[in-house]
Amino acid sequence: MTKSETIRICSILDIPDDEPLAVELKNGNKLAVYRIDDEYFVTSNVCTHGNALLSEGWQEGDVIECPFHGGAFFIKTGEPAEYPCVKAIKSYAVTIEDDSIFISLSEAENAEPDSF
Ligand code: FES
Repeated sequence: MTKSETIRICSILDIPDDEPLAVELKNGNKLAVYRIDDEYFVTSNVCTHGNALLSEGWQEGDVIECPFHGGAFFIKTGEPAEYPCVKAIKSYAVTIEDDSIFISLSEAENAEPDSF
């Protein structure tokens, strides 16, 4: 992936310890950016069970707990980790360059709009 095919979404320095960073794309899609040890992950910020922002929930290791209803997702894959969440959140491929986090432009543009 060349740099022109990606968009910068934030600096790794923007991400708090043990807490996701909320980022909104120009197309309105809401993302959550996570640090786990020294790795970085990006998912949709919107819970698939309801209209909750995962960045307002609680990060426990590689799991993000939704602030509503006790549901949770695995951050590295987007797969549901706890009921009542049964549908995965979108997970984005990440590249890092010069302390910045990039995701694929086509992936960002072609992602289904979030419902929140
Ligand atoms: S809205 Fe997230 S678990 Fe219900």
